[in-house]
Amino acid sequence: MSMNPMPQPAHAAQAAHPARYDAIARFFHWVFAAGILYTSIAGYTLAQLPDGAGRDVLSHLNMSLATVLIALFPLRLGWSFVRTEPHALPGVPRLQRLLAHGVHAAIYAVLFVVLTSGFLMVPKGYAFFGLFEIPTPFAKGPLTDALFVVHRIGCALLVALIAVHVLAVVKHQLIARNDVLRRML
Ligand code: HEM
Ligand code: HEM
Repeated sequence: MSMNPMPQPAHAAQAAHPARYDAIARFFHWVFAAGILYTSIAGYTLAQLPDGAGRDVLSHLNMSLATVLIALFPLRLGWSFVRTEPHALPGVPRLQRLLAHGVHAAIYAVLFVVLTSGFLMVPKGYAFFGLFEIPTPFAKGPLTDALFVVHRIGCALLVALIAVHVLAVVKHQLIARNDVLRRML
């Protein structure tokens, strides 16, 4: 009987592509999920609040937390290019896989717009958790007003994309029952 020293293609593919995302990708995913959940709720709450001390505290907390996401964003993006992707979910048609990739890429792109517009639209800088001042480049004017419009549109788009993303996860978990959630836990 002859032994075949070459690995079988299926086994090789499984070894090269693990069953779930690595620890760094999972860490980034859940830090951003929590951060975006908080900043969205706080942002839409701020939009309703009248001027006052309470509003200022919430606004500074919001900007400070969003600043942490600004610092982490390039690391998350960079890691998404170098990490080893998990193997494709079994039984998911090619078109749906492409759609999922498209939504993930759109989330990164819109998040970039939301973070940059948010930072650039703040006039006169802001205090990072009350510790030190972070300067911003523009005085209040038509440019910062336009950036606020970009920020608002970006936030609405981000909420919509994340809703599609979470609904897709729920559908795969509960209806297709392919245990997609385990890939990110
Ligand atoms: C409760 C909320 C969420 C759940 C249950 C969830 C779950 C998941 C799961 C299971 C995956 C793996 C999908 C796959 O393997 O095809 C995934 C990937 C992904 N999710 Fe979420 N997610 C949530 C919120 C978010 C939020 C708020 C964002 C926005 C930043 C986000 C962005 C992504 C991205 C970009 C990926 C692709 C992998 C990566 O590059 O990190 N998710 N999510
Ligand atoms: C994860 C990223 C972010 C999310 C999800 C987010 C979300 C939001 C939302 C939902 C609003 C309310 C928009 C509306 O009125 O329709 C808002 C407003 C605002 N955001 Fe962001 N934001 C993010 C990043 C940032 C950053 C990086 C900054 C600045 C450092 C910032 C500063 C502000 C300010 C100053 C407002 C106006 C709040 C007010 O009415 O006084 N945001 N944001």
